[in-house]
Amino acid sequence: MRLDIVTIFPEYLEPLNVSLVGKARARGLLDVRVHDLRQWTHDRHNTVDDTPYGGGPGMVMKPEPWGEALDAIVASGGPGEGSDTEDGSRGGSEHGPVVVVPTPSGSPFTQTTAVELAAEPWLVFTPARYEGIDRRVIEEYGERLRVRELSIGDYVLAGGEAPVLVMVEAVARLLPGVLGNAESHRDDSFAPGAMADLLEGPVYTKPPVWRGRGIPEVLLSGHHGRIARWRRDQALHRTARYRPDLIERCDPAALDAQDRVLLAELGWTEGDDGRFGRTASDVEE
Ligand SMILES: C[S@@+](CC[C@H](N)C(=O)[O-])C[C@H]1O[C@@H](n2cnc3c(N)ncnc32)[C@H](O)[C@@H]1O
Repeated sequence: MRLDIVTIFPEYLEPLNVSLVGKARARGLLDVRVHDLRQWTHDRHNTVDDTPYGGGPGMVMKPEPWGEALDAIVASGGPGEGSDTEDGSRGGSEHGPVVVVPTPSGSPFTQTTAVELAAEPWLVFTPARYEGIDRRVIEEYGERLRVRELSIGDYVLAGGEAPVLVMVEAVARLLPGVLGNAESHRDDSFAPGAMADLLEGPVYTKPPVWRGRGIPEVLLSGHHGRIARWRRDQALHRTARYRPDLIERCDPAALDAQDRVLLAELGWTEGDDGRFGRTASDVEE
């Protein structure tokens, strides 16, 4: 997979050289190219921002450098070019890259989004600063490329570099060969499938007793079926407690009979459509 990141703070992306993503790069599974937006400016001060039309506080990122940057990157990787990844994926794509625009006003970046992006051969990220990028840039590239405006949460950061680090790590760990154990994201919170709308429960490792605290007996039983059931119950407990909104939207087809019994015990009511709802007063805290 090829990733291009355009930023005015290339050094902010240094963490992409360490840990899981750094190793994936070193092994040729990820081709990450960080570009300084200012190389596409032409004035003495390398200006990338200007005052907003209509007035108001803050500055807006100028369209010209972004346009030149995106044109140059797209032109660098047509079909059949730009690939040097070991998995054989091309740096280019017949559809061009997906342009990922981090913005608090985008749609939520979720595990499902990460899975979708992990299936793409080429992503271009446009982390902004100030009040964001002149809207015409998003309109322009939205007409010829696939553009996704994505938010990592309901809060506002000073820039899009941290969101890019978040998104790249979430996507990279889903790529074949990046995690040591390919199965290890299957049981994660939000993992597509049985965990799609659930949070993972607690995990334990050795020693068996730490500061007088033991671990749940079932985990020592060696009984795979009972352990799987316990983990599932814990996931339901935790989700009901911290993210009741996820229980409410849970696909009924993803819930088995024991799940339904447990949710009823926790005070949830099953509707005619198999979905669970609750009243504030009857849910275990
Ligand atoms: C100060 S923010 C601009 C916020 C903008 N005025 C608004 O209210 O939507 C500057 C940049 O940080 C990035 N950013 C900040 N918060 C973000 C979030 N929650 N998700 C994704 N990107 C974010 C985006 O690239 C954004 O353009």
